Amino acid sequence: MAMHNLRVVSDRAAPLLQVDGVSLEYRTPDRIVRATHRVSFDVQAGDRFVLLGPSGCGKSTLLKAVAGFVPPCEGEIRLEGRGVQQPGPDRIVVFQEFDQLPPWKTVVQNVMFPLRQARGLSRAEARERAMDSLEKVRLADFADAYPHTLSGGMKQRVAIARALAMRPKVLLMDEPFAALDALTRRRMQEELLALWDDAGFTLLFVTHSIQEALVVGSRILLLSPHPGRVRAELNSQQFTLASQGGAEFQAAAQRIHTLLFGAPAAEAQPQRARSVAGR
Ligand SMILES: Nc1ncnc2c1ncn2[C@@H]1O[C@H](COP(=O)(O)OP(=O)(O)OP(=O)(O)O)[C@@H](O)[C@H]1O
Ligand SMILES: [Mg+2]
Repeated sequence: MAMHNLRVVSDRAAPLLQVDGVSLEYRTPDRIVRATHRVSFDVQAGDRFVLLGPSGCGKSTLLKAVAGFVPPCEGEIRLEGRGVQQPGPDRIVVFQEFDQLPPWKTVVQNVMFPLRQARGLSRAEARERAMDSLEKVRLADFADAYPHTLSGGMKQRVAIARALAMRPKVLLMDEPFAALDALTRRRMQEELLALWDDAGFTLLFVTHSIQEALVVGSRILLLSPHPGRVRAELNSQQFTLASQGGAEFQAAAQRIHTLLFGAPAAEAQPQRARSVAGR
């Protein structure tokens, strides 16, 4: 009994995902591009962990490395203490593009496919779990529709349903809402948070939007411009969609902007030219 308790305590203390001094590079015929430089962070089970940084700072590359598509040239990535060597069904990625669903499969077939292939479920089991997942994203009525008949937001919800149905240890999302209009994007953020409340998964989420990072994240890792290095790690548990207009939210957004770019955001700084000139 005592031993059992000890084991539970030590399990809880260990991070689910450890990114430890990870540098990532692309080798092209004429040069080597360093995408990240010695990036470290820990993701605990149940975190909504956000990677935030300017375009080109290596966010997508980091996510691909966690997914097992890009090997680090330095450092190590560990999931539950074991080194990540290749892609696996314990890490599922939802991408930004709307065309990540094979168009010749219906919605439910799209969600079932990896359950059959990678999880080895029977057709009946896969269908049941797929329908369950589609219900969670409010798309059960569209189970037999083909992707080209859906809106962008609906396609993203199918991709999320497909990922969640796999019950990955970490759900990886790379700017999944970036190509949506502002209203739909807001609704998807709300839905994602509701899903997280309901299903309690661990999320690693990439964005370059400070607003989205504050709303979606419980923790935020700030990355510097190319090559990405860790600038800071912040708690953002207290911020929600509802707190967006508030002074505290705006102050946090300003602080992040300053940490990332070294100057307050333009929209909250009408005399930007003067303040920049005065630096
Ligand atoms: N296939 C590739 N070959 C060579 N260089 C690449 C490749 N993919 C990305 N890079 C380079 O690696 C760096 C990081 O790219 P990455 O796509 O990870 O950035 P990002 O933070 O996701 O940017 P964005 O916000 O624009 O999506 C960039 O300088 C980019 O030019
Ligand atoms: Mg990217």
